[in-house]
Amino acid sequence: MSIRCAGRRLGFAHIRASAPIGPRLFSSSSGRFQDGKSAAEDRTTHFGFQNVAESLKESKVRDVFNSVAKNYDTMNDAMSFGIHRLWKDQFVQQLNPGKKSIFSEPMTILDLAGGTGDIAFRMLDHARTVNGDPETRVKVVDINEEMLREGMKRAHGLGYRTEGEDAPISFLVQNGETLEAIPDNSIDLLTIAFGIRNFTDKEKALSTAYRVLKKGGVFACLEFSKVNNFVLDQIYRRYSFSVIPMMGQLIAGDRDSYQYLVESIVKFPSQKDFARMIQDAGFQLAGKGWQDLTFGVAAIHTGVKL
Ligand SMILES: C[S@@+](CC[C@H](N)C(=O)[O-])C[C@H]1O[C@@H](n2cnc3c(N)ncnc32)[C@H](O)[C@@H]1O
Repeated sequence: MSIRCAGRRLGFAHIRASAPIGPRLFSSSSGRFQDGKSAAEDRTTHFGFQNVAESLKESKVRDVFNSVAKNYDTMNDAMSFGIHRLWKDQFVQQLNPGKKSIFSEPMTILDLAGGTGDIAFRMLDHARTVNGDPETRVKVVDINEEMLREGMKRAHGLGYRTEGEDAPISFLVQNGETLEAIPDNSIDLLTIAFGIRNFTDKEKALSTAYRVLKKGGVFACLEFSKVNNFVLDQIYRRYSFSVIPMMGQLIAGDRDSYQYLVESIVKFPSQKDFARMIQDAGFQLAGKGWQDLTFGVAAIHTGVKL
């Protein structure tokens, strides 16, 4: 097996990358990044509760997921008491992937920030078992090679082929804000679960999603959101800030990454504001544009490219 990074073969598993992987390098002697920008020229953004230069966020997020990749699936179950599985199941059932009639082409799904493949495997399973369609294909795209590596191991464990144009599932290292390797109007369904809050430029990611989707294609996002009940919100916040970083320390030996994950949830826009961002990217919302799950702990937003 081999990993492809920027077209080069590095060994182990097949994961393709169209951009160099790794942090953007900063030279302390010149005081500039490798692209010639100084830190002062960079705009700032939030990384959890910290303000950081926009150019640094991507590598900080990559460090977080490099660190959590091996324990990611275990931690998800522990932190959410397994509820994330129910949310993901509901997300996939509602999208109902798979060929719908004898005349339609097999569906091409792009699962952005797909990490270890949780959504992708559910999509394939649903297409096959519910819609009797073995031809639906999913491209799992993520900026983090380590997360994809875990996903690829799972795919092989489930017996999926991951190489070749017609592979049911493939893995691509790529920044979701640009998706350079994905042609315009080529995707039927673009999903993103618990990913977009980590992006530096969410508006850019939404415009890119619009660009790669075909006319009639659907954008669907499952993300942590704002709890719509005051008492539950207080309990949830207390749980998030005291228990989750501690679990991160105990299970994954990494408190800081889980502290970031909790903070990033607080910084993510409300359901209504995020729906407006989706609309601003050009999508037509279905109804008000979102559906709350578990009192708004998470929400599903959908939009259609008309
Ligand atoms: C919380 S995980 C979610 C993984 C998976 N979707 C799931 O639901 O289990 C967030 C993922 O977003 C990815 N990510 C963060 N920023 C990204 C970017 N700019 N482009 C693509 N993926 C990104 C991370 O590498 C990580 O794998």
